Amino acid sequence: MSHLLKPRLGETLPTVARAQGCWVWDAAGRRYLDGSAGAVVVSLGHGHPEVLAALREQAGLVTYAVRAQFTNEPAERLARRLAELAPGDLDSVYLVNSGSEAVEAAVRLALQHWSELGRPSKRRFISRHGSYHGTTLGALSLSGHPVRRRHVEPLLHPFPAVPQPSRYRCAASPACPPCDLSCADAFDAAIRAAGPDDVAGVIVEPVVGATGGAVVAPPGYHQRLREICDRHDVLLIADEVMTGVGRCGAFLAMERWDTVPDLVALGKGLGAGYVPVAGVLAGRRVVDAIAAGSGQVFTGHTHSANPLAAAVASTVVDITVRDGLPERARRLEPVLGAALGDLLESHRLLGDVRGLGMLWGLELVEDRATRRPFPRERQVTERFLAACRANGLLLYPASDGVNDAVLVGPPLNATEDELAELVRLIDASLTTLETDV
Ligand SMILES: Cc1ncc(COP(=O)(O)O)c(C=O)c1O
Repeated sequence: MSHLLKPRLGETLPTVARAQGCWVWDAAGRRYLDGSAGAVVVSLGHGHPEVLAALREQAGLVTYAVRAQFTNEPAERLARRLAELAPGDLDSVYLVNSGSEAVEAAVRLALQHWSELGRPSKRRFISRHGSYHGTTLGALSLSGHPVRRRHVEPLLHPFPAVPQPSRYRCAASPACPPCDLSCADAFDAAIRAAGPDDVAGVIVEPVVGATGGAVVAPPGYHQRLREICDRHDVLLIADEVMTGVGRCGAFLAMERWDTVPDLVALGKGLGAGYVPVAGVLAGRRVVDAIAAGSGQVFTGHTHSANPLAAAVASTVVDITVRDGLPERARRLEPVLGAALGDLLESHRLLGDVRGLGMLWGLELVEDRATRRPFPRERQVTERFLAACRANGLLLYPASDGVNDAVLVGPPLNATEDELAELVRLIDASLTTLETDV
């Protein structure tokens, strides 16, 4: 009997034994292609020798210091590097341990910014249906992920939300396409309805990850959102926990739309699976308000700015940039997109293929002509993932509770042969699924 609580009680999962590059082996010796880099985390693949060397070196120097007593060189180096790489004036960095904490910290910094400016009524946030920002109660309050909200709903804040900007399932405008960006304008309406004097910020995933599967907003969406936020004096928070650090073909996905947010949450690919680490990039406007006010950042965790985590993250960022992985993701975007798109011809269950850089989503439908989803009780996402696993492929679930979807997001340094194998295994697994549903 296991004493460890698993996602599904009673489910027997294989035991992971070792991993190298894009490949993972279980204790029974079965090999899997890591087609989603775990939970879109392992951007440099497993067992990267330079990251392991950095980890060992820092472990031999100092692994812990509380940030109220000491600063540390790896955290300073990481913050400096992130500030250099981030666009605009996003040049202050706050380090935490998970994506959820990064979102919480971004929200807290936004609230503190308004409070320091003597505008405490600005305390509401607007997010989107079909979104995921984390599992802590604040981040979950901003998340339109019905399954993850279940059971804790009574403790969540009732923040307003607008529709997801889905080109496949446009809910905002009956006339879309052609796109009139009414999905972005929904934020304008929501801010007016809540009252701009009461709204602190808007939070979006640049590409929706876990709630729908790599849903890419239409061109112009993020620029329009920036204009709307500026018009109403509302902060724009980009949750780049999944999309950041090169995953979407630029260091930050928001750079693909020339959009500079006021706050950015990073996680996942920042530590690339070697250590738990996440962070917030804060724009000058946010930090200046705090500096001119109390001069204190009223948030912190025992493990914030941990030197071991920062040393690893700083090495991950250096390798990502040195090896040109964001540019590579951008170069391979049409290659991977075309190879996955070709699967639409041979698989009637595949409704849509979309993505950006090395983050792709596959949506599965019962009827492609009408885009009708399978009844969720049929658990088609779960069955497809099981078919993938049986074929030696790991992908990540991205059902929004109504539609079936999975995420494809291999390590950014996967070879072109490995990407071809990834597509071949998806093809085979779709065939398996078709005989099963
Ligand atoms: C966009 C986004 N934000 C936040 C989170 C939460 O990150 P964590 O699971 O590290 O707390 C996730 C996790 O999937 C995510 O995809």
